[in-house]
Amino acid sequence: MSARIIDGRAIADAIETEVRADVARLAAKGVAPRLIVILIGDDPASQTYVKNKGKAATKTGISSETIALSEQTDESSLLKIIGDLNARRDAHGILVQTPLPSQIDGSRVIEAIDPAKDVDGFHPLNIGRMMSGADCLLPCTPWGVQELLVRSGHSPEGKHAVIVGRSSLVGRPLANLLTRKGRGGDATVTLCHSRTKDIAKHTLSADILISAIGRPKYITAGMVRSGAVVIDVGINSVPDSSAKNGRRLVGDVDFEAAKEKADAITPVPGGVGPMTVAMLMKNTVKAAKMQTGNQEELPDSTFS
Ligand code: GUN
Repeated sequence: MSARIIDGRAIADAIETEVRADVARLAAKGVAPRLIVILIGDDPASQTYVKNKGKAATKTGISSETIALSEQTDESSLLKIIGDLNARRDAHGILVQTPLPSQIDGSRVIEAIDPAKDVDGFHPLNIGRMMSGADCLLPCTPWGVQELLVRSGHSPEGKHAVIVGRSSLVGRPLANLLTRKGRGGDATVTLCHSRTKDIAKHTLSADILISAIGRPKYITAGMVRSGAVVIDVGINSVPDSSAKNGRRLVGDVDFEAAKEKADAITPVPGGVGPMTVAMLMKNTVKAAKMQTGNQEELPDSTFS
């Protein structure tokens, strides 16, 4: 039997509708959440991501601004721009799109962002708060995966979740979120990576299998347990002669084969991608509430 397709677009739309209501409540208090995205260089994928973030902001009533900088921008100029944004009261969220050009040190950039404005949830202070279970701005993709599981009826509670990929942006924070106590957590997690021996042995015992390794067709049907829920975080560009620009986006999972074994599966595109953007909108509103003293009065409509 073919798996149910988890519609990340529809779930992200529902979240964005909630965010829109939150934005309206903030507007009634004279607060207009504002997101500033910094885009350096002209990488086509980054341009697409940034455009999608802008569209979601418009849809949710968040005002947004993109600061486009040349590929040659030096680190000190970028740090100066971030410093100015940190001081700007109308800029509630700051996001620096990655990848960054080689002359810029990513860690230094992230650490320069005021943690209260770090809507990507990448700042070490936010990562530390997340690890300790405190309220904070959570990293958007892991948080989006968690929310996708809950809202599609696949609560991780008591399940064995196997994550393939140990990146600091997805695999490791996701392992942390899924093992936290409470909504969206309480899973038992195995975190596999490039040095794991016999990855299939682990993936075949997964109730929930999440791939974030960045390799097309890495997860074959033979690695999926019958009845598992499969979440594909991968976004890989592959040649496709039938596509307008000669390329196409695929995930890490051999979707056509895996969907015959899984109980439910996310597509690429239309799975985790839209969730990342929706969670960014939630973080921007949360950041605006925190900075304007409205968090107590207007608590987040979802777990955070
Ligand atoms: N590049 C790809 N995804 C992301 C993201 O979620 N945030 C940032 N800052 N850069 C990215």
